[in-house]
Amino acid sequence: MPRWFNTAGPCKADIHYMLSPLARLPRLDRLIAQQGYFVIHAPRQTGKTTAMLALAEQLTASGQYTAILVSAEVGAAFPQDLGAAEAAMLDAWRDAAKFRLPPELQPPPWPQAAAGQRIGRALSEWAQQSPRPLVILIDEIDSLQGDSLISVLRQLRSGFPNRPQGFPQALALIGVRDVRDYKVAAGGSNRLNTASPFNIKIESLTLPNFTPAEVTELYNQHTAETGQPFTAEATQRAFELTQGQPWLINALARQLVEAIVPNPQQPIEHAHVEQAKEILIQRQDTHLDSLASLLREDRVRVVIEPMLAGQELGNIPPDDVQFLIDLGLIARYPAGGIVPANPIYREVLPRMLASGPQDSLPTIYPSWLTVDGKLDSERLLQAFLDFWRQHGEPLLKSAAYHEIAPHLVLMAFLHRVVNGGGTLTREYAIGSDRMDLCLQYGEVTLAIELKVWRAGRPDPMKAGLAQLDRYLAGLGLTTGWLIIFDRRPELPPVAERTTVEWVCTPSDRSIAVIRG
Ligand SMILES: Nc1ncnc2c1ncn2[C@@H]1O[C@H](COP(=O)(O)OP(=O)(O)O)[C@@H](O)[C@H]1O
Ligand SMILES: [Mg+2]
Repeated sequence: MPRWFNTAGPCKADIHYMLSPLARLPRLDRLIAQQGYFVIHAPRQTGKTTAMLALAEQLTASGQYTAILVSAEVGAAFPQDLGAAEAAMLDAWRDAAKFRLPPELQPPPWPQAAAGQRIGRALSEWAQQSPRPLVILIDEIDSLQGDSLISVLRQLRSGFPNRPQGFPQALALIGVRDVRDYKVAAGGSNRLNTASPFNIKIESLTLPNFTPAEVTELYNQHTAETGQPFTAEATQRAFELTQGQPWLINALARQLVEAIVPNPQQPIEHAHVEQAKEILIQRQDTHLDSLASLLREDRVRVVIEPMLAGQELGNIPPDDVQFLIDLGLIARYPAGGIVPANPIYREVLPRMLASGPQDSLPTIYPSWLTVDGKLDSERLLQAFLDFWRQHGEPLLKSAAYHEIAPHLVLMAFLHRVVNGGGTLTREYAIGSDRMDLCLQYGEVTLAIELKVWRAGRPDPMKAGLAQLDRYLAGLGLTTGWLIIFDRRPELPPVAERTTVEWVCTPSDRSIAVIRG
Protein backbone atom coordinates (compact mmCIF):
# COMPACT_ATOMS: atom_id res chain seq x y z
CA MET A 1 0.00 0.00 0.00
CA PRO A 2 1.39 3.44 -0.85
CA ARG A 3 2.25 5.67 2.05
CA TRP A 4 4.05 8.82 3.06
CA PHE A 5 7.78 9.19 3.21
CA ASN A 6 9.07 8.88 6.71
CA THR A 7 12.77 9.07 6.21
CA ALA A 8 15.00 11.61 4.60
CA GLY A 9 16.33 10.69 1.20
CA PRO A 10 15.26 10.09 -2.35
CA CYS A 11 12.01 8.33 -3.05
CA LYS A 12 10.64 5.77 -5.49
CA ALA A 13 7.23 6.13 -7.07
CA ASP A 14 6.20 2.52 -6.52
CA ILE A 15 6.37 2.72 -2.72
CA HIS A 16 5.14 6.20 -1.92
CA TYR A 17 2.79 8.99 -2.78
CA MET A 18 4.80 11.32 -4.94
CA LEU A 19 4.74 13.99 -7.59
CA SER A 20 6.19 13.19 -10.97
CA PRO A 21 9.82 14.15 -10.39
CA LEU A 22 10.30 14.95 -14.07
CA ALA A 23 7.43 17.41 -14.10
CA ARG A 24 9.22 19.31 -11.32
CA LEU A 25 12.37 19.79 -13.39
CA PRO A 26 12.75 22.40 -16.08
CA ARG A 27 12.79 20.87 -19.58
CA LEU A 28 16.17 19.24 -19.90
CA ASP A 29 15.73 17.20 -23.10
CA ARG A 30 16.77 20.11 -25.29
CA LEU A 31 19.79 20.86 -23.12
CA ILE A 32 20.86 17.22 -23.19
CA ALA A 33 20.29 16.88 -26.94
CA GLN A 34 22.41 20.01 -27.46
CA GLN A 35 25.29 18.48 -25.49
CA GLY A 36 24.85 20.86 -22.60
CA TYR A 37 26.63 20.75 -19.26
CA PHE A 38 24.53 22.16 -16.45
CA VAL A 39 24.14 22.69 -12.73
CA ILE A 40 21.07 21.85 -10.66
CA HIS A 41 21.22 23.55 -7.31
CA ALA A 42 18.67 23.76 -4.50
CA PRO A 43 18.68 23.55 -0.71
CA ARG A 44 18.88 20.21 1.04
CA GLN A 45 15.86 17.91 0.84
CA THR A 46 14.20 19.63 -2.08
CA GLY A 47 13.95 16.51 -4.23
CA LYS A 48 17.08 16.88 -6.36
CA THR A 49 18.23 13.28 -6.03
CA THR A 50 14.72 11.93 -6.55
CA ALA A 51 14.27 14.01 -9.69
CA MET A 52 17.67 13.24 -11.19
CA LEU A 53 17.34 9.51 -10.53
CA ALA A 54 14.08 9.59 -12.44
CA LEU A 55 15.66 11.62 -15.22
CA ALA A 56 18.51 9.16 -15.67
CA GLU A 57 16.09 6.24 -15.68
CA GLN A 58 13.92 7.89 -18.28
CA LEU A 59 16.83 8.81 -20.55
CA THR A 60 18.20 5.28 -20.43
CA ALA A 61 14.76 3.76 -20.97
CA SER A 62 14.28 5.91 -24.06
CA GLY A 63 16.97 3.82 -25.76
CA GLN A 64 18.82 6.96 -26.81
CA TYR A 65 21.32 7.42 -24.02
CA THR A 66 23.41 5.66 -21.40
CA ALA A 67 22.38 7.88 -18.50
CA ILE A 68 23.20 7.47 -14.83
CA LEU A 69 23.11 9.35 -11.56
CA VAL A 70 26.35 8.94 -9.59
CA SER A 71 27.51 10.65 -6.41
CA ALA A 72 30.67 12.48 -5.43
CA GLU A 73 29.96 11.99 -1.74
CA VAL A 74 32.41 9.16 -1.04
CA GLY A 75 35.22 11.41 -2.31
CA ALA A 76 34.70 13.68 0.68
CA ALA A 77 36.33 11.12 2.98
CA PHE A 78 39.77 11.87 1.43
CA PRO A 79 40.22 15.62 1.59
CA GLN A 80 44.03 15.34 1.55
CA ASP A 81 44.40 12.54 -0.98
CA LEU A 82 43.11 13.32 -4.42
CA GLY A 83 44.00 9.94 -5.94
CA ALA A 84 42.16 8.09 -3.17
CA ALA A 85 39.13 10.36 -3.52
CA GLU A 86 39.01 9.64 -7.26
CA ALA A 87 39.39 5.90 -6.76
CA ALA A 88 36.62 5.83 -4.15
CA MET A 89 34.26 7.73 -6.43
CA LEU A 90 35.00 5.54 -9.42
CA ASP A 91 34.35 2.42 -7.31
CA ALA A 92 31.02 3.83 -6.20
CA TRP A 93 30.12 4.78 -9.76
CA ARG A 94 30.80 1.26 -10.99
CA ASP A 95 28.54 -0.09 -8.24
CA ALA A 96 25.81 2.37 -9.18
CA ALA A 97 26.08 1.26 -12.82
CA LYS A 98 25.75 -2.38 -11.78
CA PHE A 99 22.37 -1.69 -10.23
CA ARG A 100 20.99 1.00 -12.49
CA LEU A 101 22.09 0.09 -16.01
CA PRO A 102 21.48 -3.01 -18.14
CA PRO A 103 24.48 -5.30 -18.83
CA GLU A 104 25.18 -3.91 -22.30
CA LEU A 105 25.56 -0.37 -20.92
CA GLN A 106 28.05 -1.17 -18.13
CA PRO A 107 31.22 0.93 -18.06
CA PRO A 108 34.52 -0.56 -19.31
CA PRO A 109 37.31 -1.23 -16.80
CA TRP A 110 38.59 2.17 -15.65
CA PRO A 111 41.92 2.95 -17.35
CA GLN A 112 45.10 3.38 -15.31
CA ALA A 113 45.77 7.04 -14.71
CA ALA A 114 47.73 9.30 -12.41
CA ALA A 115 46.00 10.97 -9.48
CA GLY A 116 44.29 14.10 -10.73
CA GLN A 117 43.39 12.50 -14.07
CA ARG A 118 41.41 9.45 -13.05
CA ILE A 119 37.91 10.87 -13.33
CA GLY A 120 38.56 12.50 -16.69
CA ARG A 121 40.20 9.39 -18.14
CA ALA A 122 37.43 7.12 -16.88
CA LEU A 123 34.67 9.28 -18.35
CA SER A 124 36.56 9.56 -21.61
CA GLU A 125 36.99 5.81 -21.86
CA TRP A 126 33.35 5.16 -20.99
CA ALA A 127 32.11 7.71 -23.56
CA GLN A 128 34.19 6.01 -26.24
CA GLN A 129 33.04 2.50 -25.37
CA SER A 130 29.38 3.21 -24.72
CA PRO A 131 27.06 2.09 -27.52
CA ARG A 132 24.97 5.19 -26.85
CA PRO A 133 25.89 8.81 -25.99
CA LEU A 134 26.77 9.02 -22.31
CA VAL A 135 24.90 11.28 -19.86
CA ILE A 136 26.46 11.62 -16.40
CA LEU A 137 24.61 13.29 -13.53
CA ILE A 138 26.94 13.88 -10.56
CA ASP A 139 25.08 14.28 -7.27
CA GLU A 140 26.46 15.82 -4.04
CA ILE A 141 29.18 17.60 -5.98
CA ASP A 142 29.72 20.12 -3.21
CA SER A 143 30.53 17.49 -0.65
CA LEU A 144 34.01 17.64 -2.23
CA GLN A 145 36.34 20.22 -0.77
CA GLY A 146 39.41 22.17 -1.77
CA ASP A 147 41.82 20.49 -4.14
CA SER A 148 39.56 17.52 -4.90
CA LEU A 149 36.76 19.79 -6.02
CA ILE A 150 39.05 21.96 -8.13
CA SER A 151 40.65 18.93 -9.70
CA VAL A 152 37.36 17.24 -10.61
CA LEU A 153 36.01 20.45 -12.12
CA ARG A 154 39.22 20.93 -14.11
CA GLN A 155 39.09 17.40 -15.45
CA LEU A 156 35.53 17.95 -16.61
CA ARG A 157 36.50 21.19 -18.25
CA SER A 158 39.41 19.71 -20.12
CA GLY A 159 37.37 16.77 -21.46
CA PHE A 160 34.45 19.00 -22.47
CA PRO A 161 35.67 19.79 -26.04
CA ASN A 162 35.92 16.04 -26.81
CA ARG A 163 32.23 15.33 -26.28
CA PRO A 164 30.20 13.46 -27.40
CA GLN A 165 32.57 10.72 -28.74
CA GLY A 166 35.39 11.25 -26.27
CA PHE A 167 33.56 12.62 -23.24
CA PRO A 168 29.98 12.57 -21.88
CA GLN A 169 27.46 14.15 -24.24
CA ALA A 170 25.77 15.89 -21.35
CA LEU A 171 26.69 16.28 -17.71
CA ALA A 172 25.03 17.73 -14.62
CA LEU A 173 26.52 18.83 -11.34
CA ILE A 174 23.97 18.57 -8.56
CA GLY A 175 24.36 20.23 -5.22
CA VAL A 176 23.22 22.99 -2.92
CA ARG A 177 25.44 25.63 -4.50
CA ASP A 178 25.36 27.37 -7.82
CA VAL A 179 28.48 26.70 -9.83
CA ARG A 180 29.63 30.29 -9.66
CA ASP A 181 30.10 29.85 -5.93
CA TYR A 182 32.33 26.83 -6.27
CA LYS A 183 35.51 28.83 -6.20
CA VAL A 184 34.59 29.97 -2.70
CA ALA A 185 33.99 26.42 -1.56
CA ALA A 186 37.26 25.44 -3.19
CA GLY A 187 39.33 27.61 -0.90
CA GLY A 188 39.19 31.20 -2.08
CA SER A 189 39.81 33.13 -5.22
CA ASN A 190 43.52 33.78 -4.70
CA ARG A 191 44.29 30.31 -5.95
CA LEU A 192 42.41 30.59 -9.21
CA ASN A 193 42.48 33.44 -11.59
CA THR A 194 39.45 32.33 -13.53
CA ALA A 195 35.96 33.14 -12.35
CA SER A 196 35.35 29.46 -11.74
CA PRO A 197 37.32 26.30 -12.41
CA PHE A 198 34.28 25.06 -14.29
CA ASN A 199 34.20 27.98 -16.68
CA ILE A 200 32.65 26.34 -19.68
CA LYS A 201 29.33 27.61 -20.91
CA ILE A 202 26.89 26.06 -18.59
CA GLU A 203 23.31 26.57 -17.58
CA SER A 204 22.44 26.91 -13.96
CA LEU A 205 19.01 25.64 -12.96
CA THR A 206 17.26 25.31 -9.68
CA LEU A 207 14.55 23.10 -8.26
CA PRO A 208 11.90 25.11 -6.42
CA ASN A 209 9.80 24.03 -3.47
CA PHE A 210 6.36 22.58 -4.22
CA THR A 211 3.79 25.04 -5.53
CA PRO A 212 0.30 25.19 -3.94
CA ALA A 213 -1.01 23.23 -6.95
CA GLU A 214 1.62 20.53 -6.41
CA VAL A 215 0.71 20.22 -2.73
CA THR A 216 -2.92 19.75 -3.73
CA GLU A 217 -1.91 17.14 -6.30
CA LEU A 218 0.19 15.22 -3.78
CA TYR A 219 -2.49 15.28 -1.07
CA ASN A 220 -5.10 14.23 -3.64
CA GLN A 221 -3.14 11.03 -4.21
CA HIS A 222 -3.94 10.09 -0.63
CA THR A 223 -7.60 10.98 -1.17
CA ALA A 224 -7.76 8.87 -4.33
CA GLU A 225 -6.24 5.92 -2.48
CA THR A 226 -8.17 6.09 0.80
CA GLY A 227 -11.21 8.27 0.12
CA GLN A 228 -10.15 10.69 2.85
CA PRO A 229 -10.38 14.29 1.58
CA PHE A 230 -8.32 17.31 2.57
CA THR A 231 -10.43 20.48 2.64
CA ALA A 232 -9.12 23.31 0.46
CA GLU A 233 -8.38 25.32 3.63
CA ALA A 234 -6.36 22.46 5.08
CA THR A 235 -4.19 22.13 1.98
CA GLN A 236 -3.72 25.86 1.75
CA ARG A 237 -2.68 26.03 5.40
CA ALA A 238 -0.19 23.22 4.87
CA PHE A 239 1.35 25.24 2.06
CA GLU A 240 1.53 28.45 4.13
CA LEU A 241 3.16 26.72 7.07
CA THR A 242 5.81 24.95 4.99
CA GLN A 243 6.13 27.27 1.99
CA GLY A 244 6.04 24.05 -0.01
CA GLN A 245 9.24 22.58 1.45
CA PRO A 246 8.97 18.98 0.19
CA TRP A 247 10.16 17.21 3.30
CA LEU A 248 7.83 19.22 5.56
CA ILE A 249 4.87 18.73 3.23
CA ASN A 250 5.34 14.99 3.57
CA ALA A 251 5.97 15.13 7.32
CA LEU A 252 2.82 17.19 7.92
CA ALA A 253 0.70 14.80 5.86
CA ARG A 254 2.10 11.84 7.73
CA GLN A 255 1.12 13.35 11.08
CA LEU A 256 -2.32 14.17 9.75
CA VAL A 257 -3.29 10.82 8.29
CA GLU A 258 -1.45 8.57 10.70
CA ALA A 259 -1.80 10.31 14.07
CA ILE A 260 -4.40 13.06 14.04
CA VAL A 261 -7.14 11.84 11.70
CA PRO A 262 -6.46 8.13 11.25
CA ASN A 263 -10.11 7.47 10.37
CA PRO A 264 -10.34 7.87 6.57
CA GLN A 265 -14.09 8.59 6.87
CA GLN A 266 -13.22 11.92 8.46
CA PRO A 267 -12.05 14.81 6.27
CA ILE A 268 -8.81 16.59 7.14
CA GLU A 269 -9.50 20.20 8.08
CA HIS A 270 -7.67 23.42 8.82
CA ALA A 271 -7.69 22.81 12.60
CA HIS A 272 -6.07 19.41 12.12
CA VAL A 273 -3.24 20.99 10.18
CA GLU A 274 -2.68 23.39 13.10
CA GLN A 275 -2.48 20.41 15.43
CA ALA A 276 -0.04 18.59 13.17
CA LYS A 277 2.10 21.72 12.99
CA GLU A 278 2.23 21.95 16.78
CA ILE A 279 3.41 18.35 16.96
CA LEU A 280 6.19 18.95 14.44
CA ILE A 281 7.25 22.10 16.27
CA GLN A 282 7.26 20.39 19.63
CA ARG A 283 9.26 17.47 18.31
CA GLN A 284 11.56 19.99 16.62
CA ASP A 285 11.45 17.88 13.51
CA THR A 286 13.21 19.35 10.54
CA HIS A 287 14.70 18.14 7.28
CA LEU A 288 18.13 18.42 8.94
CA ASP A 289 18.70 15.83 11.60
CA SER A 290 21.71 17.63 13.05
CA LEU A 291 20.07 21.02 13.54
CA ALA A 292 20.83 21.26 17.27
CA SER A 293 24.56 20.84 16.76
CA LEU A 294 24.53 23.11 13.72
CA LEU A 295 23.04 25.88 15.85
CA ARG A 296 26.05 25.67 18.13
CA GLU A 297 28.44 26.48 15.28
CA ASP A 298 29.74 30.05 15.31
CA ARG A 299 29.07 30.70 11.63
CA VAL A 300 25.43 29.75 12.24
CA ARG A 301 25.10 31.75 15.45
CA VAL A 302 26.35 34.98 13.84
CA VAL A 303 23.33 34.92 11.51
CA ILE A 304 20.60 33.39 13.66
CA GLU A 305 21.27 35.50 16.75
CA PRO A 306 20.73 38.93 15.13
CA MET A 307 17.79 37.54 13.17
CA LEU A 308 16.02 36.52 16.37
CA ALA A 309 16.80 39.84 18.03
CA GLY A 310 15.64 41.76 14.95
CA GLN A 311 19.05 43.43 14.64
CA GLU A 312 20.91 44.32 11.47
CA LEU A 313 23.22 41.61 10.20
CA GLY A 314 26.36 43.72 10.45
CA ASN A 315 29.63 42.56 8.98
CA ILE A 316 28.89 38.91 8.42
CA PRO A 317 30.63 37.02 5.61
CA PRO A 318 28.04 36.54 2.85
CA ASP A 319 29.11 32.92 2.73
CA ASP A 320 27.73 32.33 6.25
CA VAL A 321 24.34 33.61 5.14
CA GLN A 322 24.47 31.58 1.93
CA PHE A 323 25.34 28.46 3.92
CA LEU A 324 22.08 28.73 5.88
CA ILE A 325 20.09 29.43 2.73
CA ASP A 326 21.66 26.34 1.13
CA LEU A 327 20.63 24.27 4.11
CA GLY A 328 17.07 25.49 3.65
CA LEU A 329 16.82 27.10 7.11
CA ILE A 330 16.49 30.72 6.10
CA ALA A 331 15.35 32.54 2.98
CA ARG A 332 15.95 35.92 1.45
CA TYR A 333 13.00 38.25 1.58
CA PRO A 334 12.15 39.45 -1.92
CA ALA A 335 12.35 42.99 -0.51
CA GLY A 336 15.74 42.33 1.11
CA GLY A 337 16.72 40.93 4.50
CA ILE A 338 16.48 37.35 5.67
CA VAL A 339 13.79 35.41 7.48
CA PRO A 340 13.31 31.80 8.57
CA ALA A 341 12.49 29.64 5.55
CA ASN A 342 8.92 28.96 6.67
CA PRO A 343 6.58 29.53 9.65
CA ILE A 344 7.34 26.11 11.11
CA TYR A 345 11.09 26.76 11.21
CA ARG A 346 10.37 30.24 12.58
CA GLU A 347 9.06 28.41 15.68
CA VAL A 348 11.54 25.56 15.73
CA LEU A 349 14.69 27.71 15.74
CA PRO A 350 14.01 29.73 18.92
CA ARG A 351 12.49 26.70 20.61
CA MET A 352 15.58 24.66 20.05
CA LEU A 353 17.70 27.51 21.38
CA ALA A 354 15.48 27.99 24.42
CA SER A 355 15.96 24.38 25.42
CA GLY A 356 19.02 25.26 27.58
CA PRO A 357 17.12 27.68 29.86
CA GLN A 358 14.10 25.37 29.62
CA ASP A 359 16.04 22.48 31.11
CA SER A 360 17.31 24.75 33.89
CA LEU A 361 13.87 26.13 34.71
CA PRO A 362 12.82 25.75 38.35
CA THR A 363 9.46 24.20 39.16
CA ILE A 364 6.93 26.96 38.63
CA TYR A 365 3.47 26.78 40.13
CA PRO A 366 0.87 27.96 37.55
CA SER A 367 -0.47 30.76 39.70
CA TRP A 368 -1.80 32.45 36.54
CA LEU A 369 -4.63 29.96 36.13
CA THR A 370 -8.08 30.63 37.57
CA VAL A 371 -9.99 27.88 39.38
CA ASP A 372 -11.75 26.98 36.15
CA GLY A 373 -8.44 26.71 34.29
CA LYS A 374 -8.51 30.04 32.43
CA LEU A 375 -5.47 32.22 31.97
CA ASP A 376 -5.52 35.46 33.97
CA SER A 377 -3.06 37.87 32.35
CA GLU A 378 -2.73 40.12 35.42
CA ARG A 379 -1.67 37.16 37.50
CA LEU A 380 0.61 36.02 34.71
CA LEU A 381 2.32 39.40 34.76
CA GLN A 382 2.90 39.10 38.50
CA ALA A 383 4.17 35.55 38.13
CA PHE A 384 6.56 36.62 35.38
CA LEU A 385 7.94 39.52 37.47
CA ASP A 386 8.51 37.21 40.44
CA PHE A 387 10.14 34.61 38.21
CA TRP A 388 12.36 37.15 36.49
CA ARG A 389 13.52 38.79 39.72
CA GLN A 390 14.25 35.50 41.36
CA HIS A 391 15.63 33.35 38.54
CA GLY A 392 16.41 35.70 35.64
CA GLU A 393 20.06 36.33 36.43
CA PRO A 394 21.27 32.72 36.76
CA LEU A 395 19.12 31.50 33.87
CA LEU A 396 20.63 34.06 31.53
CA LYS A 397 23.85 32.10 31.84
CA SER A 398 22.20 28.89 30.63
CA ALA A 399 21.39 30.31 27.19
CA ALA A 400 23.62 29.29 24.30
CA TYR A 401 23.32 32.64 22.55
CA HIS A 402 24.50 35.43 24.84
CA GLU A 403 23.07 38.34 22.82
CA ILE A 404 19.53 37.02 23.01
CA ALA A 405 19.76 35.26 26.37
CA PRO A 406 16.84 37.28 27.87
CA HIS A 407 14.63 36.38 24.90
CA LEU A 408 15.43 32.71 25.34
CA VAL A 409 14.77 32.73 29.09
CA LEU A 410 11.46 34.54 28.59
CA MET A 411 10.49 31.99 25.95
CA ALA A 412 11.37 29.13 28.25
CA PHE A 413 9.03 30.66 30.84
CA LEU A 414 6.24 31.15 28.29
CA HIS A 415 6.61 27.59 27.02
CA ARG A 416 5.97 26.52 30.57
CA VAL A 417 2.82 28.69 30.57
CA VAL A 418 1.37 27.33 27.33
CA ASN A 419 2.50 23.80 28.08
CA GLY A 420 -0.22 21.55 26.77
CA GLY A 421 -2.99 24.12 26.83
CA GLY A 422 -1.99 26.88 24.43
CA THR A 423 0.34 28.08 21.73
CA LEU A 424 3.13 30.61 21.43
CA THR A 425 4.02 32.10 18.04
CA ARG A 426 6.75 34.55 17.13
CA GLU A 427 7.50 37.18 14.52
CA TYR A 428 11.05 38.31 13.88
CA ALA A 429 13.28 39.29 11.00
CA ILE A 430 16.65 40.90 10.35
CA GLY A 431 16.40 44.64 10.84
CA SER A 432 12.92 44.72 12.40
CA ASP A 433 14.52 45.75 15.73
CA ARG A 434 12.15 43.69 17.83
CA MET A 435 10.60 40.30 18.39
CA ASP A 436 6.84 39.92 18.70
CA LEU A 437 5.27 37.07 20.63
CA CYS A 438 1.66 36.03 20.59
CA LEU A 439 0.50 33.74 23.37
CA GLN A 440 -2.82 32.02 23.04
CA TYR A 441 -4.46 30.16 25.86
CA GLY A 442 -8.14 29.30 25.59
CA GLU A 443 -9.93 32.56 24.88
CA VAL A 444 -7.03 34.71 26.00
CA THR A 445 -4.62 36.24 23.49
CA LEU A 446 -1.62 38.05 24.90
CA ALA A 447 0.66 40.07 22.63
CA ILE A 448 4.19 40.81 23.81
CA GLU A 449 6.90 42.84 22.19
CA LEU A 450 10.55 42.47 23.12
CA LYS A 451 13.03 45.30 22.72
CA VAL A 452 16.63 45.57 23.81
CA TRP A 453 18.26 48.69 25.26
CA ARG A 454 21.87 48.62 24.08
CA ALA A 455 24.80 50.71 25.27
CA GLY A 456 25.04 54.10 23.60
CA ARG A 457 21.49 53.94 22.25
CA PRO A 458 18.39 55.81 23.43
CA ASP A 459 15.66 54.17 25.51
CA PRO A 460 13.69 52.04 22.99
CA MET A 461 10.39 52.60 24.82
CA LYS A 462 8.96 55.19 22.46
CA ALA A 463 9.66 53.17 19.31
CA GLY A 464 8.48 50.03 21.11
CA LEU A 465 5.13 51.54 22.08
CA ALA A 466 4.48 52.64 18.51
CA GLN A 467 5.42 49.22 17.11
CA LEU A 468 3.39 47.36 19.72
CA ASP A 469 0.44 49.64 19.05
CA ARG A 470 0.46 48.54 15.40
CA TYR A 471 0.93 44.89 16.35
CA LEU A 472 -2.06 45.07 18.75
CA ALA A 473 -4.18 46.81 16.11
CA GLY A 474 -3.42 43.95 13.70
CA LEU A 475 -4.52 41.41 16.31
CA GLY A 476 -7.56 43.45 17.33
CA LEU A 477 -6.33 43.78 20.95
CA THR A 478 -6.51 46.75 23.34
CA THR A 479 -3.76 45.75 25.72
CA GLY A 480 -0.34 44.10 25.67
CA TRP A 481 3.13 43.92 27.17
CA LEU A 482 6.26 45.74 26.11
CA ILE A 483 9.33 44.12 27.60
CA ILE A 484 12.57 46.09 27.49
CA PHE A 485 15.65 44.08 28.29
CA ASP A 486 18.39 46.39 29.45
CA ARG A 487 21.74 45.18 28.14
CA ARG A 488 23.81 48.24 28.98
CA PRO A 489 26.92 47.53 31.04
CA GLU A 490 27.17 48.04 34.81
CA LEU A 491 23.52 47.81 35.68
CA PRO A 492 22.13 46.89 39.08
CA PRO A 493 21.19 43.18 39.38
CA VAL A 494 18.05 41.92 37.61
CA ALA A 495 16.22 41.53 40.93
CA GLU A 496 16.60 45.26 41.64
CA ARG A 497 16.08 46.69 38.20
CA THR A 498 12.96 44.78 37.18
CA THR A 499 9.95 47.12 37.17
CA VAL A 500 6.54 47.49 35.56
CA GLU A 501 4.46 50.57 34.73
CA TRP A 502 1.22 50.92 32.79
CA VAL A 503 1.28 53.35 29.86
CA CYS A 504 -1.43 54.57 27.52
CA THR A 505 -0.63 54.76 23.79
CA PRO A 506 -1.89 57.62 21.56
CA SER A 507 -4.56 55.26 20.20
CA ASP A 508 -5.68 54.54 23.76
CA ARG A 509 -4.31 51.05 24.26
CA SER A 510 -2.97 50.28 27.70
CA ILE A 511 0.40 48.65 27.78
CA ALA A 512 2.42 47.14 30.60
CA VAL A 513 5.99 48.31 30.13
CA ILE A 514 8.25 45.82 31.83
CA ARG A 515 11.93 46.61 32.29
CA GLY A 516 14.31 43.87 33.20
N1 LIG B 1 8.63 14.07 -6.35
C1 LIG B 1 8.40 14.09 -5.05
N2 LIG B 1 7.16 13.94 -4.55
C2 LIG B 1 6.92 13.97 -3.23
N3 LIG B 1 7.87 14.15 -2.30
C3 LIG B 1 9.13 14.33 -2.72
C4 LIG B 1 9.47 14.30 -4.10
N4 LIG B 1 10.80 14.48 -4.21
C5 LIG B 1 11.27 14.64 -2.96
N5 LIG B 1 10.28 14.54 -2.05
C6 LIG B 1 10.42 14.68 -0.58
O1 LIG B 1 11.65 15.33 -0.32
C7 LIG B 1 12.53 14.48 0.42
C8 LIG B 1 13.94 14.70 -0.07
O2 LIG B 1 14.15 14.22 -1.38
P1 LIG B 1 15.61 14.10 -2.02
O3 LIG B 1 15.43 13.73 -3.44
O4 LIG B 1 16.47 13.23 -1.18
O5 LIG B 1 16.11 15.63 -1.91
P2 LIG B 1 17.57 16.26 -2.13
O6 LIG B 1 18.34 15.34 -3.03
O7 LIG B 1 17.29 17.60 -2.75
O8 LIG B 1 18.18 16.39 -0.76
C9 LIG B 1 11.99 13.08 0.20
O9 LIG B 1 12.29 12.24 1.29
C10 LIG B 1 10.49 13.34 0.14
O10 LIG B 1 9.97 13.54 1.43
MG1 LIG C 1 20.15 14.43 -2.54
